[in-house]
Amino acid sequence: MPESNVNSPALQPDMLHSDVSLRSLNTFGLEAKAERYYRATSVDSLKRILKVEQPSLVLGGGSNLLLTKDVEGLVVHVDIRERRLLQEREGCVLLQAGAGEPWHEYVMHTIAEGYGGLENLSLIPGVVGAAPIQNIGAYGVELKDHFSGLKALNRETLEEEFFDENSCKFGYRASCFKGELKGKYIITHVRFTLTVDHHDHRLNYGDIRSILEKSGKSPSPKSISDAVVAIRSSKLPDPSEIGNSGSFFKNPELSESEFLALQKLRPDLRFYELPENRYKIPAAWLIDQAGWKGHRRGAIGVHDKQALVLVNHGGGKGEDLWALAKEIQQDVEDKFGVKLNPEVNVI
Ligand code: EPU
Repeated sequence: MPESNVNSPALQPDMLHSDVSLRSLNTFGLEAKAERYYRATSVDSLKRILKVEQPSLVLGGGSNLLLTKDVEGLVVHVDIRERRLLQEREGCVLLQAGAGEPWHEYVMHTIAEGYGGLENLSLIPGVVGAAPIQNIGAYGVELKDHFSGLKALNRETLEEEFFDENSCKFGYRASCFKGELKGKYIITHVRFTLTVDHHDHRLNYGDIRSILEKSGKSPSPKSISDAVVAIRSSKLPDPSEIGNSGSFFKNPELSESEFLALQKLRPDLRFYELPENRYKIPAAWLIDQAGWKGHRRGAIGVHDKQALVLVNHGGGKGEDLWALAKEIQQDVEDKFGVKLNPEVNVI
């Protein structure tokens, strides 16, 4: 990854800059320029810039973003930092975090404080403010399981509004901020309720339990986090070494008839049963079976340990990555009749 240009003296926060490279601000490490760029470190600063101009792109950690071209107009980078204990209740704490807090560092902070709940979500790239937008999830836990509301700035009225869990309309990698309210709000703070003791450990997904058993450690937020970090690091590329944005596509959901037809074609099909006779199919399996795992085309390609992760080995172009993604999408549809939808935002 190139050196961050955000920290250079020329790029003071809370000031407008022109012609700024976004390369260090997206985890794919793709080159694209922002016509204008503003890094807001407080809600007041965010309001100040929104009074002047509405952004064409709001950027958090840039971990779920595929930049295929330069961005015309204004890019607002939300970099509000805060780690606050709002309330201690019986056995629980209510915490508030600034949208710009790097997610993994924040999870590590909660674990160091002795709080439980976010450990299965260790090592997910991105920032706190982006986490609710797609209800991040891993190893049997989703953000919504420990979520206690968020504050977001209405881009039109410039008023801060509070959203509780219900109003966020969380679904699988989805929320109202990705749906009907897309582009209307900017998340500034997120609240979590975490456990202080009597943690509710989730060990059943993947290899967590067997890693703990092998190491002889009893389940705790720290030991589970260590296991998740070990699993993720063995399968997923580190964005500081190889540009990527985690899972590129969502795992598709099929109706019973679609599922049965596919299972007839491929009896070895992997699947998870969902409520209401629906079935989730691992996109990684489909892409892998279609022969794309480890595929490389110049600087871009498909990761050799996880077929759902597209990678930029360095110097690749966003438009080429997008062309590859579309080719994979078409090939999977031709071979299995299943349409893959991207999880990342394509600009
Ligand atoms: N598989 C393959 N080939 C591969 C990789 C996986 O056949 O190259 C098969 C595996 O054998 C397994 C299945 O596909 O049966 C699922 O794989 P895995 O458990 O690695 O999880 P995933 O469904 O690919 C999801 C999330 C990840 C999250 C993991 C762990 C989505 C789109 N992805 O991946 O989230 O870390 O589960 O909980 O839901 C992300 O969103 O960026 C992300 C990394």
